[in-house]
Amino acid sequence: MQKLWIKGGVPLEGEIRISGAKNAALPILAATLLLDEPATISNIPHLKDVTTIIELLGILGVKVTLDESFSVHVDASDLSSFVAPYELVKTMRASILVLGPLLSKYGQADVSLPGGCAIGSRPVDLHINGMRAMGAEIEVEDGYIHARAKNGLKGTRIVLNTVTVTGTENLMMAGVFAKGQTILKNAAREPEVVDLANFLKSVGADIEGAGTDTIVINGVTRLHSSHYSILFDRIEAATYLAAGAITGGCVKLKDVEPEMMAAVLEKLSEMGAELTIEERAIQLDMRGKRPKAVDIETAPYPGFPTDAQAQFLAVNAIAEGVSTVKETIFENRFMHVQELVRMGADIHVQGNIAVCKGIEKLHGAPVMATDLRASASLVLAGLAAEGETIVDRIYHIDRGYSCLDEKLAQLGANIRRI
Ligand code: EPZ
Repeated sequence: MQKLWIKGGVPLEGEIRISGAKNAALPILAATLLLDEPATISNIPHLKDVTTIIELLGILGVKVTLDESFSVHVDASDLSSFVAPYELVKTMRASILVLGPLLSKYGQADVSLPGGCAIGSRPVDLHINGMRAMGAEIEVEDGYIHARAKNGLKGTRIVLNTVTVTGTENLMMAGVFAKGQTILKNAAREPEVVDLANFLKSVGADIEGAGTDTIVINGVTRLHSSHYSILFDRIEAATYLAAGAITGGCVKLKDVEPEMMAAVLEKLSEMGAELTIEERAIQLDMRGKRPKAVDIETAPYPGFPTDAQAQFLAVNAIAEGVSTVKETIFENRFMHVQELVRMGADIHVQGNIAVCKGIEKLHGAPVMATDLRASASLVLAGLAAEGETIVDRIYHIDRGYSCLDEKLAQLGANIRRI
């Protein structure tokens, strides 16, 4: 099992390019199942979850070729299967995203239930109930979602009682070939949802309102080819900005869209970071200062992203002052706390609130990653800690970050894979 060795205490300096967004690449690659003509998707991040969904597309019969410049060429014109098997879905719950396109275009799909995951039970009832409302017959048994829509799907008005990112994405894709109009109320507004809508519109789908809480999809009968470039990864960007903050350094990120990171940038300013915003770049300069502690409360976009919570709690662990971090999206997303405490952090969790008293210095320790973003927070803590930190189970990191250790080393970090 690969590990990351980190020797802390080096303020990060330098600039890196941010990759395409994992959480935009996954739904957009799933959406290529709707196409009869080949499409090219560029700026695809090289990470495990993307490899997994490409594997899944391959199992369904999609011809996929990757070229060296992060582009993926997809031809879904001749599928051979409509089954997303357990052994693959269990490694990545976002595989559920093939349900909507397969049902919308082929009227059938058998997708393994994703099962729980470390950060929470993460049910998919909203996906299933929405498609049932569109006329699908769905049986959930022996761990699979068996979905059929012999006469195709029918557009209808769906009110999502919880804001769900992949639920919104799945139902948007289901609406593409549905007869009539599908209206999604209380839809997720995340930039990745908008990126999926933009991709779908680029191949001829009729979608309005993406980015607001009401998305309207008018069914069409055919789609065409497209060459589409994926949005930047705002969570990867937030992670590197937090790395600059926690080490008191100065980092510049390129190929980003600052206006999509308002909640994160506001917290970094509150921490005392000096931010220089350009059209497609963000520079953070701590001028060697220790960050000030900031209170965080996660919320659906445009609120503070739950996927950046663990990273910012790590910064709070060494910040000046006491802070509270409230996690409102998932019921168990504080697994990084125990590991940070083993590095000397003074953090107590009560329900969905972590109370953190900043200390001067964490000390390096052997720690274990439990989920994707918790792992990132442990790496950040290791960058700031005195001494050596070994992060175990870094396959979690490789699922969601492309070349994290290389990019951090580029910024001067003392880090290597062992
Ligand atoms: C997406 O997961 C992201 N993954 C997650 O990123 C992210 O943390 C999450 O949205 C919230 O922003 C992808 O986009 C691939 P949700 P998703 O449905 O869609 C409840 C990462 O680190 N819910 O928005 O699965 C659910 O339990 C990953 O990259 C239902 O109750 O999250 C949760 O409490 C981690 N029923 C809340 O809604 C449903 O049918 C939000 O979940 C669906 C969701």
